[in-house]
Amino acid sequence: MKTEHTSPLCGRRVLVAVSGSIAAVKSPLLVSALIKAGAEVRCLVTTSGAALVSPVALASLSRHRCYLEADQWNPAASRPLHIELAEWAELTIVAPLSASSLARWSQGSADGLLASVLLATEAPVIAAPAMNTAMWRHPAVQRNWLQIQDFPRVVPLFPESGLLACDSVGDGRMADPLLIELAAASVFSRGPGAPAINLDLSGMSVLVSAGPTQETIDPARFLSNRSSGRMGVLLAQAARFRGATVHLVHGPLDLPVAWLQGLQCTAVETAAELSAALQLAQPTSDVLVMAAAVADLRREVAPANKLAKLELKEVLSSGWYEVPDLLSNLTRQRRPEQLILGFSALTGDDTQFLERAESKRLAKGCDLMMVNPVDRNGQGFGDQPNGGWLLGDGWRRELPVTAKLSLAHQLLDALIKIRDQAAASMES
Ligand SMILES: Cc1cc2nc3c(=O)[nH]c(=O)nc-3n(C[C@H](O)[C@H](O)[C@H](O)COP(=O)(O)O)c2cc1C
Repeated sequence: MKTEHTSPLCGRRVLVAVSGSIAAVKSPLLVSALIKAGAEVRCLVTTSGAALVSPVALASLSRHRCYLEADQWNPAASRPLHIELAEWAELTIVAPLSASSLARWSQGSADGLLASVLLATEAPVIAAPAMNTAMWRHPAVQRNWLQIQDFPRVVPLFPESGLLACDSVGDGRMADPLLIELAAASVFSRGPGAPAINLDLSGMSVLVSAGPTQETIDPARFLSNRSSGRMGVLLAQAARFRGATVHLVHGPLDLPVAWLQGLQCTAVETAAELSAALQLAQPTSDVLVMAAAVADLRREVAPANKLAKLELKEVLSSGWYEVPDLLSNLTRQRRPEQLILGFSALTGDDTQFLERAESKRLAKGCDLMMVNPVDRNGQGFGDQPNGGWLLGDGWRRELPVTAKLSLAHQLLDALIKIRDQAAASMES
């Protein structure tokens, strides 16, 4: 059965390298996710890695033979295998990256197939270390980890904190395979001509709101909307992959929890909680992305007991107050150099829709507003692609429907353009 792929990974050549960490047992999940996204995958496993995960499993899942360290010395090969693989791959993912493989890479050692590929490749490399907490915190490992982040085209995925196979709780868990897949998709999400890895948001602090808010009707019911939070969370991760420190304030989300790894997260439910969390974080942020879909109405006081059907009808028809416009409040309080991107979900025909959107952008005072129709088949909510228009000061640009992660990068490109233009006009 053929599947339709909309992922930026579709048709891309990805080498998955597995080294000797117990987290190697999760590598088959990564390979499977990449294949489902339409990527062409080859696997390479070190000798210690092969003792922890079956090369046969990796071969079956990648639909291709799995390379072992010994294959580098095959007398029948007419070209060195490490060069073949390094030139074949448009992206290499080392997951898990063991302390030993990290040490070899940081020191420029070509000792072994994986080590040789890492020196020979000119494509991006995603590095996902995994080890015991004490090993991870060792100064030698930390020094090596810092060193490889200075190498060109490296995307570092810091290990997470949690229960480790050695029964301790602490840093050292490999990033989740779904997050690694997202980082890989991000590499292929930039437009033509843009570098695959660009740390152009380095040193910036980005505040993102995402997901719906929920306003209580009674203990069993709430008023909310269809937002899944994907657009906002993907914007947050895209900014983080481009070097920003990201704080995500989110309502209840409908997406893989692994997508929150690496972000500073604050979970909220109501519009009032969202507003309070954003106000607290806004003063220290360089960029605010307001992608949350805030409920329009709220009640002052919610009934203590579940309402019967007739009571519900009564409660739904009165006693609701408008939720204050959070975006307008935040733009009023911003520092002069803070950039703000707002979102507006609209329905109806294009002309009316764009007129309404432009007056909304002006009223709210944000630098950019992404306007997306939510009444068209195959775009908008959930895991569907997205598109619409981007409105700026005196201009508007159509954003064709594409994967949400690609759109996230286009929106960040537009923010960076405004930042750079403002910096250039200050200098002149
Ligand atoms: C059961 C077991 C689990 C291991 N887990 C890890 C680990 O999580 N991280 C790590 O850096 N090393 C771990 N090691 C040690 C590495 O396998 C060892 O350093 C090996 O030399 C790594 O070689 P490689 O990088 O070529 O795969 C583990 C060893 C064993 C026997």
